[in-house]
Amino acid sequence: VQQFSLRPRFLKEYIGQDKIKEELSIYIQAAKMRDEALDHVLFYGPPGLGKTTLAMVVANELNVNIQTTSGPAIERSGDLLAVLNELNPGDILFIDEIHRLPRVIEEVLYSAMEDYYVDIVIGQGSGAHAVHFELPPFTLIGATTRAGMLTQPLRDRFGILAHMDYYTTNDLYHIVERSAKVFNTEIDAEGALEVALRSRGTPRIANRILKRVRDYAQVKADGRVTKELTQEALSILDIDEKGLDAIDRKLLLAMIELYDGGPVGIKTISVNIGEDTETIEDMYEPFLLQNGFLKRTPRGRVVTDLAYDHLGIDRMYRLDENL
Ligand code: ADE
Repeated sequence: VQQFSLRPRFLKEYIGQDKIKEELSIYIQAAKMRDEALDHVLFYGPPGLGKTTLAMVVANELNVNIQTTSGPAIERSGDLLAVLNELNPGDILFIDEIHRLPRVIEEVLYSAMEDYYVDIVIGQGSGAHAVHFELPPFTLIGATTRAGMLTQPLRDRFGILAHMDYYTTNDLYHIVERSAKVFNTEIDAEGALEVALRSRGTPRIANRILKRVRDYAQVKADGRVTKELTQEALSILDIDEKGLDAIDRKLLLAMIELYDGGPVGIKTISVNIGEDTETIEDMYEPFLLQNGFLKRTPRGRVVTDLAYDHLGIDRMYRLDENL
């Protein structure tokens, strides 16, 4: 029985990322026709775009089991062996945040991916000895916000590289309508569009906003989500017309007020707004860069005119004032 859940279960339910879906669909069909494991897949791109969801979709399409773990969860080779041990032929091992795997574990993965075996050292000191484990053919699906942080040999062992991009407003609109159905929430077209426009191209954010707007509509009105109710709920959430949240604005404002809009280095920004550099680089910067609020220069990040306009700050006036 196919249940209708927030996460799409098959490619045809998955909205957006058309190029990736088209490619995957071919490789999945080919693997099934040959009764082979699918080649290893790497999904990379900003958080919240559906990398984990897509890995589960691939497992469903292939009709195989999926073992899920993450880079930080695997500290020792024994941890890796424990998940590899659960694999049946053709199964998927999904490693989220694969860029955070310890280097020694990455090296164990090389032979697992290439030739389906691992050699692991067991014991310590004079009792240490290598043990050889044969593995069934399997598919590793890695997900990362930072393909650049993987070692070249690991990256080279993925046969399918899929770069996930921010969703279009149109795709998000359809995702919001679909999610509203799952939540049993009535939403009008303008309401769905408003949620889509404020979601920074990210389904995870769209779904989170939808849940809060739904609560708001339930308490303040008759439960039906409209554009007006969405706007009211978003002002409580501190999300502005472009989808920027309080931290995005804090970041831009700190750069403007403390550094005249830059150039300024990521570490300096991090210290000033109290968010770690990795969070800024993964969660905030990509959207701000892509939408032209920030620019990267060799000397650091620079706030653009668009950002000044958006925040209602006059750049010339501020420069004069600082003379
Ligand atoms: N929910 C979250 N992401 C989705 C997507 N890409 N398609 C359909 N539903 C989703």
